[in-house]
Amino acid sequence: MSLIRLLAVDSLKNGMKVAKNVYWCDGNVLLAKGVCLHRGFIEKLKVFGITSVYIIDELIDKIEVDELVTEQTRNEATLIVKETMQNVKNAKTPEGEKVIKIVDSITDELISNPNIIVNLVEVRAMNDYTFAHCLGVSILAMVTGIGMGYDYKKLKELGIGAILHDIGKAFIPDEVLYKPGPLTQSEYEEIKNHTKMGYNTIRDCNDFSMSSAHVAWQHHEKFDGTGYPRRLKGETIHEYARITALADVYDALTTRRSYREQIMPHEAIEYLRDAEGITFDPEIAEVFLEKIAPFPVGSVVQLNNGEKAVVTKINKEFPGRPVLASIVDSTGSKIEQPVERDLRKDLTLFIVEVINVWIGRGRPGR
Ligand SMILES: [Fe+2]
Repeated sequence: MSLIRLLAVDSLKNGMKVAKNVYWCDGNVLLAKGVCLHRGFIEKLKVFGITSVYIIDELIDKIEVDELVTEQTRNEATLIVKETMQNVKNAKTPEGEKVIKIVDSITDELISNPNIIVNLVEVRAMNDYTFAHCLGVSILAMVTGIGMGYDYKKLKELGIGAILHDIGKAFIPDEVLYKPGPLTQSEYEEIKNHTKMGYNTIRDCNDFSMSSAHVAWQHHEKFDGTGYPRRLKGETIHEYARITALADVYDALTTRRSYREQIMPHEAIEYLRDAEGITFDPEIAEVFLEKIAPFPVGSVVQLNNGEKAVVTKINKEFPGRPVLASIVDSTGSKIEQPVERDLRKDLTLFIVEVINVWIGRGRPGR
């Protein structure tokens, strides 16, 4: 009898059991599912920049965290992105076939699940960020494409563009790309250039379509015309790039970076809503936001009746009203036999705040 919970590293205690693998760069496992935590492990997680971990809580019936894409595909994709970036860095042509093959697998896995909802918090080491981010962006973009009724061909073009959207960063020196402090004007101009460089790289590879190349060029354009590099506006920005822009910011916000903490999905959703029509295409943003669970399975939340509960299941039609199991009553006492409640049916009950997961605030990436 166990429950999966996502806990902030600061809340981890000796003896807790890891519920999902925690990955190191290259897809290697840093901490395997089932491992019992001790102080040494917990300290290491902090050093490696891991902020939250899924743990097994011996409370109620086992719940499953839905995987959008299998671990194997994720790890393979992360490696391919890394390899592709390395090739571009070394002035070699990207191996288009490999990228196409992995985007095929992601597409197949995503479309085999018609009710997909993004309900997972990425638990990864920080220096793996660039590659895992590219994959995260492509999954989010494709999920949105599915919501927009895209066919297989369009999904693949979008997925390829999204997974390679930052490929131009291979041309930017690491000291500029990973500079912890604020950038100078000329450094910022250099970074902006990754869009055009990415476009050139994808365009010059015969395996990819021009539409995919436009994603790299236009993913920093903003709907109101204040983005870069060409200050394109509204629907003059390629639709794939408008989708990828949303996915890029959402993934960056919900992942920890060297210069800021990550924020919770429901806070990132609020940020995107505020930017609808300004930074993002409002119609696409609506489709995107329908696909994101603001309170992923495993989140511990405070309810308006004073109880604390764990999210156990996402209602696909109403991701903001999940199924919960109360674990602490309004007097602060632990509930020994938690009872599940469906917020879709219990309309007097609502989530006041998210607790006990990672907490922090910040701004989206560059
Ligand atoms: Fe970018």
